[in-house]
Amino acid sequence: MSVTVLFDAPDGQWPQYDTALRTALADAGVGADLVTNAVPQTVDYIIYAPGGQITDFTPYSKTRAVLGLWAGVEKIASNPTLTQPLARMVDTGLTEGMTEWVTGHVLRHHLGIDAQLAAQNGVWNPVAPPLARDRRVGILGLGALGTASAQALSTLNFNVAGWSRRPKQIEGVTCHHGDAGLRDVLARSDILVLLLPLTSATENVLNAKMLALMPRGAILLNPGRGPLIDDDALLAALGTGQIAQATLDVFRTEPLPADHPYWAHPQVTVTPHIASETRPQTASTVIAQNIRRAESGQPLLHLVDRSAGY
Ligand SMILES: NC(=O)c1ccc[n+]([C@@H]2O[C@H](COP(=O)([O-])OP(=O)(O)OC[C@H]3O[C@@H](n4cnc5c(N)ncnc54)[C@H](OP(=O)(O)O)[C@@H]3O)[C@@H](O)[C@H]2O)c1
Repeated sequence: MSVTVLFDAPDGQWPQYDTALRTALADAGVGADLVTNAVPQTVDYIIYAPGGQITDFTPYSKTRAVLGLWAGVEKIASNPTLTQPLARMVDTGLTEGMTEWVTGHVLRHHLGIDAQLAAQNGVWNPVAPPLARDRRVGILGLGALGTASAQALSTLNFNVAGWSRRPKQIEGVTCHHGDAGLRDVLARSDILVLLLPLTSATENVLNAKMLALMPRGAILLNPGRGPLIDDDALLAALGTGQIAQATLDVFRTEPLPADHPYWAHPQVTVTPHIASETRPQTASTVIAQNIRRAESGQPLLHLVDRSAGY
């Protein structure tokens, strides 16, 4: 039996996924009619990324699941017309990319690479950086991406602590949860990485009060979501030196407006939401596996908990 699978993503995505999805579905033994347009009532599965055509899921009355191409689901999870089960993307390509971005930027700040690049001035100043074991890194969010990043940093010997909603155990990582746990992680983070999803509970989690708990001169990396940070509070903390530097990949408004103070700020590095992205090859395998599971009555992988918002 064949299922109708509708691909709904922004223009330009389809050519990247067309062959990869067809191959993955065939490899998974799923007979599928893979289309970019369909009568809503005939669609069995929707492969979805924000910015496509669908805003109202109501007519998709037969659709058994919406399979997101993004790890972050704040844009679709809040759509009141979505009543179908929603799975988000957990993809080895996405995870590898984020681990590389986080590790790279932690090492950049840990080793003082910016200062080295700026100091090619003929002055011999042999000050070695500390060892990773003496650098405390905190990671807010210990999900697919936070855990992989924490483990990579722990393998490099960084002193890593993390924070999640529910209690966790990760080898080599001191895990915290709850309000007191957040304060503990902030208070000991020389470098803090935000890898939380954007929900009503996490918006502005890094506000003036929380920034003040961090060690003076701490470094902030945000590859999570822009609204996790109160931007005015961060700009003020950068101004006083409470936060020495911030490397920001995600923003409240994207693209980041050309006149936003972050662009020209000497203590801020802007990267344009490139910390990681879904890779068509590996993501197609995940999508195909999930359709096969649904067709054989197994629970979907990476199901979104709509009440928690992620
Ligand atoms: N910049 C980029 O290019 C890029 C790319 C991909 C993803 N992202 C962002 O990265 C985020 C994380 O992705 P992921 O795949 O790691 O997500 P995930 O697997 O769902 O993990 C989310 C983590 O955040 C924790 N969390 C959620 N709400 C919390 C709260 N209120 N208090 C404390 N902890 C909370 C969760 O706790 P539990 O473990 O207890 O559930 C979990 O550890 C995405 O949501 C997306 O916004 C950015």
